Formats: sequence, C-alpha cells, structure tokens
Amino acid sequence: MTSQELRKKYIEFFVSKGHKEIPSAPLVPENDPTTLFTSSGMQPLVPYLLGRAHPAGKRLVNSQPCFRAEDIEEVGDNRHTTFFEMLGNWSLGDYFKKEQLPWIWEFLTKELGLAKEKLYVSVFEGNNDVPKDTETYEIWKSLGLPEDHIYFYGADKNWWSRSGSPDKMPAGEIGGPDSEIFYEFTQVEHDAKYGAKCRPNCDCGRFLEIGNSVFIQYLKRSDGKLKELPENNVDFGGGLERLTATTNNNPDIFGTDLYKPIVEKICEGLGTSYEKNKQYIQVIADHIKASVFLMKDGVVPNNKLQGYVLRRLLRRVATKAFLIDKQKSDSKFFRSLIKSVIDIYSERFEEINTANIEEEVSLEIRKFRATLERGLQQLDKSIKDNENLGLAVFNLFQSYGYPLELTIELLKERGIKFTDFDMGQFEEGRKSHVELSRTASAGMFKGGLADHSEVVTKYHTATHLLHAALRQILGSHVEQKGSNLTVERLRFDFSQPEKLKEEQLKQVEDLVNEKIKENLPVSSEIIDKEEALKSGALAFFGDKYGDKVTVYTIGHPERSEGSHFSREICGGPHVKNTSELGKFTITKEESAGAGVRRIYATLS
Ligand code: ALA
Repeated sequence: MTSQELRKKYIEFFVSKGHKEIPSAPLVPENDPTTLFTSSGMQPLVPYLLGRAHPAGKRLVNSQPCFRAEDIEEVGDNRHTTFFEMLGNWSLGDYFKKEQLPWIWEFLTKELGLAKEKLYVSVFEGNNDVPKDTETYEIWKSLGLPEDHIYFYGADKNWWSRSGSPDKMPAGEIGGPDSEIFYEFTQVEHDAKYGAKCRPNCDCGRFLEIGNSVFIQYLKRSDGKLKELPENNVDFGGGLERLTATTNNNPDIFGTDLYKPIVEKICEGLGTSYEKNKQYIQVIADHIKASVFLMKDGVVPNNKLQGYVLRRLLRRVATKAFLIDKQKSDSKFFRSLIKSVIDIYSERFEEINTANIEEEVSLEIRKFRATLERGLQQLDKSIKDNENLGLAVFNLFQSYGYPLELTIELLKERGIKFTDFDMGQFEEGRKSHVELSRTASAGMFKGGLADHSEVVTKYHTATHLLHAALRQILGSHVEQKGSNLTVERLRFDFSQPEKLKEEQLKQVEDLVNEKIKENLPVSSEIIDKEEALKSGALAFFGDKYGDKVTVYTIGHPERSEGSHFSREICGGPHVKNTSELGKFTITKEESAGAGVRRIYATLS
C-alpha cells in the first residue's frame, strides 16, 4: 500500500465514524514557549484536552507532521527517525475505550488487511495511584486477541504524556495509561543483545510499535498528585511511515515510498549502495527530510533553540555524506536531495519556497566545510607538535563541531591509529559537553507548563493588542508574520516596509496601554470561518483553518464595525480582561527580513 493511500484510508475511516478532519499545525508551536517542536498530534490540542470547546467538535482526526529532537542519536536503524507523520484521532470527552479499541482494530485488520496473528498489544498494569486497566484487557480479548498476545506493563512503558511517566510530568501536564499495538515481523531474528526473550516492546526490531491509544484522564497537580480530568479523552497516534512499512511486510521504513526516492538520490549522487552504507544513508535521509520540513515552517540554521537543532541536523547530514564521499557531496548533491523530499510531499508543499531552502542549506554546508578545513589544519598542527591527541580530538569536536567518527577517518588518512591516543581525555570532555546540552534543553521545561501558562497567556493577549495598535497607527498593510512568546517577553513580526520612527513606537505603546486601562473584556466564540472573515476578524500567518473557527474579540463583543478594538481568529488562550496585563513597554524594534519589522515588548 502507498503512504498516500494509507493516509487517505485512515482519515476517511475516522470521518465515517463521525470525526472532523482538522488542519495540521506547524512544526514550531506558535505560542507555547515550553516546547521547541510539535512532537505529537495531541500537542496543538492540549487546551481542548483540558476542556476548552474545539471549533470542529469532539471527534477529530488528522495527519500531523512531528519532529522529535530527542531521537537524533537513535536514527540509524530501520525504524527510528526524528521526523514522522502521525496519524491521529481524538475524542474530547466523547467516546472512550469501548469505541476506540474496536475501531482501531477494524482499521488495522480490515482496512489495512494486517494479519491478526501478527498483532500484539500492551496494557497498563496499574500502580499505587491508577488501577490496572482491566477494561482495555477485556476489550482486546473480546476482539479475539489471544491472551498470549496481550502484555501488561508498568508506567515506564504503558503511560503516555509529553514528558513520560507520571513522576516526570510537570505540574499542569496531562497524560494517562495507554495501550500500544505491535506488529511482529517474523522474518526478523531476535537479537540476544536485547535480552534472552523477545516480546512486544523489545528493542531488537522484531516487534514494531505501530499505534498507541492514550486514555488522557489525568492532570498533574502542583502538589505532585494526579487529578482526574473532568472528561475522559482519547488520543491515538500511529506513525504513517511505520504503518506503510507494515502493510508491505517490510521492517525497513526506508524502503517505503516516503524514503525510497531520497535513498535512491543519495546512492546515485554519492556512487554507493544502500547495503554498503545503510546507517549513514538512513541518517542523511531522515535529517534532510526533517530539515526541509523545519525550514518550510520558518526555521533557519543559527545558534539558538530551533535554529541550533536544524544546524545540528544539517551538519550531521554533511558529515555522513562526507564520510561516504567527500568530493561528490557538493551543493548539487544536496539540492537533489531537497528536491526528492519536496517531490514526495508535493501535495503538502503548495507554497514552498524551494529556492530559499536550497540556498540556506548550501550556505550552511559551505560554512561547515570551511570550519572543517580550519579544524583539519588545527589537527595537522597538533600531530606535528606531538600534542595530546585525545584533547586535540575533543577540541575539534567542541570548537569545530567535528564528530568523532569523522576525526577517526581523518586520523586514519594520516596513518594514525585510533588506539594511539588518549580516549580518556576525549570522553571526559564529551561527557561534560553532553551534560551541558541536556541541562540547556531541560531548561525549556523548567517549572512545568502550569507555572508558565498564566504569564504567557497575558503576553498572548498583549500581542493581539499590539497587532491592532500597529494597524491603527501604521495602516492596514500591517499583517502578522510571526509571533513568539516566552515568560519574559513577546516578539512580534509584521509586514512594514520601513523602520518605525521613535514617535510611531511611542504612539503604538501608548495606544496599547490606553486599551489596557480601559478594562476591555476579552471574549471568544466559535463560528463559521466565512462568517468570521466577513465580520472583520483578522486571519493571517498562512494558517490553515477548518470550517469552524474560534474568534477572540477585545472590546465589545458585538460584531458591528468599530465596536471592538481587536478581533482575530485564534486558538487562544487569553486573559478575561485587559486590566490583567499591567504596563506594556516596547523594548526593541528591528528588521526581521525584507519588508518585515520585529518588535519586542514586555509587561510589568
Ligand atoms: N500522543 C501519543 C503518542 O505520541 C499518541 O504516542
């Protein structure tokens, strides 16, 4: 089965069960500073899983591009990737286990025609706070699964939240017990390295997880206890790449139509074969695809947050390609890879700026090449001066971004054996470096979601005020081009040809503060998209909307012209009244590209 057919079948199946298809969200969440990337289909739906009404109703389905930066090091086998598409269906306090499990079983066995005897499931065995999930067990049995195809596991395996098991969930995070489905590739021999006995959830690759029904029923309270949510929700996710591989009974996702054209381009361009350089090719194929999707959603390689992750991906792509063939991995080669990614997803890339992406990637790889050259000179000097080579290799890693495997190759080229130098020095340096990056990314989650949400909500409402004020002062050519919120400030990008004058900035700032002082109510309503647009609600940012949308109004909620200050199609959340915002101060104004200005502002 092709991936397109599968995606379509899944959406149609759940639409036939009363679900509404919703548009996918960008890979970089707009107004959620607690996380860098959209890493699962439920992420943009968190406010609705917490109880807010979704404009499309209580049964939702879509296919969501996802990126998991934490899996970078896992890539290099037949099934792990950083980028993937998650097929997802949700019940927002509507149906529950009795519907979800039979439906997903019907989809897998009837629609996809998977052999029942190759399917296994896992169920939550319970802990001190949450009981054993016997209901799910009984449902699976009633569907005909034999007992030896149902496994009970603890919270480390059968509990899902964005941060893992209940003890790792920050206050405000939601999650619950889950039930995973595995497909057994009988042609894959168990590898004893992963334990004496093979079973679902074994890491040897014989059992592939193809779907997960999460029963989102709990919220982590600030006292560390789990509280039941007012409604029982279902959050299902299944990887499109893995499901496609499964329907073809091929355990290697890189053999599916979602990767094959990229793999072929890599082999053709570098004059190699998949068999010969499998691991490197898997990394290149995944990372270049992830890079294209990130860049399509506005990420550029740099040293900060998402940009840093993208830079890392591209450097890994370049390194692996160099290791296969230094000469052949030129700009033309990388351009051909980008094109192969775009061709696979042509139906998703209607407005993609291919030339821009090609240019950014070529520039980044050229810069990396120059860095590698400088590092190489440094290495030659260290060898000549008889320096401690372990330290020299670490310096290459730290200062020039040289991966160890690349350095090993280059030492080899210089007649130096890996065993000749002091690995202790390298390892010591590397460990502290890894620890440092882990602390830095963990910092993103510091304090948990609940602690952050109040301040961020205020900044979100202030952004709407700023947007409206800019349009009033500068004119209606002002359109939102980007927005980013942290607990410390808002950042807003908008179309505007020239730099703002001091007095214009002052006028904008004053107008926002005036509206804050007017104690304006903030209200929301769910209406048809057409009606929302007709009523003057702003809708920007190349966003895709469903038929029904939520509109936030600041000022009198009446729809007549002039009765409100701001009206935007937006997912929220927002404060109830502008009086909650405090004092608004613009701290910086700068360029954010051709015809786009950027404003930073704080609330105090
Ligand atoms: N959110 C669930 C997952 O990512 C479905 O596995």
